[in-house]
Amino acid sequence: MDTMGMSKVAEPAIQTTQPLKIVIVGHVDHGKSTLVGRLFHDTGSLPDGRVEAVRAMSEKRGMPFEWAFLLDALQAERDQGITIDISQIFFRTDVRHYVLIDAPGHREFVKNMITGAAQADAAVLVVDAKDGMQEQTRRHAYLLHLLGIHQIVVAINKMDSVEYSEARFQEVGTAVRAYLADLGIDLQHTFMIPVVARDGENIVASGEKHLPWYTGPTLAGALDLLQPPVTSLELPLRMPVQDVYKFDDRRIIAGRIESGHLRKGDTLLFSPSNKKARIASIEAWNVKESIMAVRAGESVGFTLDEQIFVERGEICSLTSNPPMLSNVFRGRIFWLGREPLVPGARLKMKLCTGEYQVEVEKIEKVIDTQDLGSNEQNHVERNAIAEVVLRSRRMMALDPFDQNMYTGRFVLVEDYEIVGGGLINMDGYADQRLQGIKSQNIFRVEHRVPIEERWKANGHKGGILWMTGLSGAGKSTLAFSLEQHLFRKGYLVYVLDGDNVRHGLCSDLGFSPQDRVENIRRVGHAAGLFARAGFLVLTAFISPYRADRDRVRAIAPDVFHEVHIDADLSTCETRDPKGLYKKARKGEIHEFTGVSAPYEPPSQPELRIDSGRHSIEECLAQLDAYVSDNFVFTRH
Ligand code: ADX
Repeated sequence: MDTMGMSKVAEPAIQTTQPLKIVIVGHVDHGKSTLVGRLFHDTGSLPDGRVEAVRAMSEKRGMPFEWAFLLDALQAERDQGITIDISQIFFRTDVRHYVLIDAPGHREFVKNMITGAAQADAAVLVVDAKDGMQEQTRRHAYLLHLLGIHQIVVAINKMDSVEYSEARFQEVGTAVRAYLADLGIDLQHTFMIPVVARDGENIVASGEKHLPWYTGPTLAGALDLLQPPVTSLELPLRMPVQDVYKFDDRRIIAGRIESGHLRKGDTLLFSPSNKKARIASIEAWNVKESIMAVRAGESVGFTLDEQIFVERGEICSLTSNPPMLSNVFRGRIFWLGREPLVPGARLKMKLCTGEYQVEVEKIEKVIDTQDLGSNEQNHVERNAIAEVVLRSRRMMALDPFDQNMYTGRFVLVEDYEIVGGGLINMDGYADQRLQGIKSQNIFRVEHRVPIEERWKANGHKGGILWMTGLSGAGKSTLAFSLEQHLFRKGYLVYVLDGDNVRHGLCSDLGFSPQDRVENIRRVGHAAGLFARAGFLVLTAFISPYRADRDRVRAIAPDVFHEVHIDADLSTCETRDPKGLYKKARKGEIHEFTGVSAPYEPPSQPELRIDSGRHSIEECLAQLDAYVSDNFVFTRH
């Protein structure tokens, strides 16, 4: 067992002395190097005499001095392996230390970020005041978003070239802000600063001489206002189980604490198995005193008060703040495989010590790392970044990367070789961890009327026709027509409809992934009760997630029939009976299924109704025939 680093800690202290890691990006001609040179110089972070040396060199060559030369000189020194390492240059203000992460090329930068080799906490985006936003500016901003960097200082540079115009600054600033907001970046942590990097205006010293209308912080001042990175200690406990050892009759669970801390006596939750137990003792070799607490970065072994069966790969947390459970997520991946990645590919995914078999369900976007252009092609070439949806048969324990970088990152493996790395994003997907049963001292009571007697009295079986499909596919129309038709034939039949139950039973729910899960859970149980009462229940819910529908099936497995009311997105959008697609496209409705929220079609529905091509009458006839075939009760 690895007990390295295990130590006695009374109360974990929070480290806040880490330098803030920043990356500087922007169009190649917008003055990045000048800005970096000036920032280092004006914060007094350059080795003595360095500027003078570069000035002298420029003079000798008959060239006017430029701040960018300074970086070139430092770069040359790095290439020769002398003095400083430019890939990690430190500078400091009165407030804190900074590390500038060099982004020599997108590919290396992205690879380092995704693999965790170098993690930027914030970025400076340099935009030329005259040129404004260029395609490259947009791509760099997109890259920042992709990598989860949400603290952005926008330096609108070369203000001298636009006569220090406030109007131009506002114009460029507004465009940048609008673009960042479109990407989903929270502008709360964004600064817009007019600067003249060459002259050091608003870099460290104020630019009040030429930019008196600007009253905000300088570039260095804005950096000082950024949030420090959350340390692994401040995050909730995550300890991936590395091994379970058996000593005499004790089982010792061992692993490295990636974030948070644990104490003797804590109740731990293991995910995805969902087992719980209390820490009975913290074990270590060669340590005499008993250990009471262990924290992030340390390895630990402990015993539990109950002999539960847990395995390598599970993530151990406190019960109050566990990782998410999901069998599907979006990954922003960096693909290294020799062969292009295609939809349907099956790969091994490693997340901390856990291993899962995953399938590429969808390739949503592919981004070329050379020019950062994105396209909708359906395969990912080596060295490209892509946004993909990955699905596993098993529940996986994970965190979104922006909440925990340790349990929010994964690698993809094929034939024992690492073929990619990625960051987890749960946008559009819900935590599938359900609360379980809260009450204690509850006991089931049996009905005295057997279900078959109900069926006999009604002349048909009870059950659920679960209609799923996009908004506008025709679920409600078909369900209510079928209800009327079957009622007239003497059926005990009732429709549960999305828009209707959201006025009552589910009036407290919206359309977030989590609320949709709860919507379907409640309605699923209501449908199950109706079915057990002998009714034929027709449901009309988008029910976009496969896992939710599968859970309803499990409530009434013998009488659950999944019906895909199948009309494609463009058909539904053309119909747009409630005008909602139009609103969704205008951005007036968020998380709208098919537009800005996912829909997972059933893979093997009991019945598929092609409502995009067939008339309502044809679809009804098909449904009616299906009911006759499946719900007529014949007593054996
Ligand atoms: S579900 O996703 O939770 O199953 P449900 O079927 O109850 O959705 O409700 C869908 C209906 O709500 C749609 O037919 C539409 O009229 C309305 N609606 C309002 N906002 C949204 C949204 N963001 N996404 C989907 N439907 C919405």
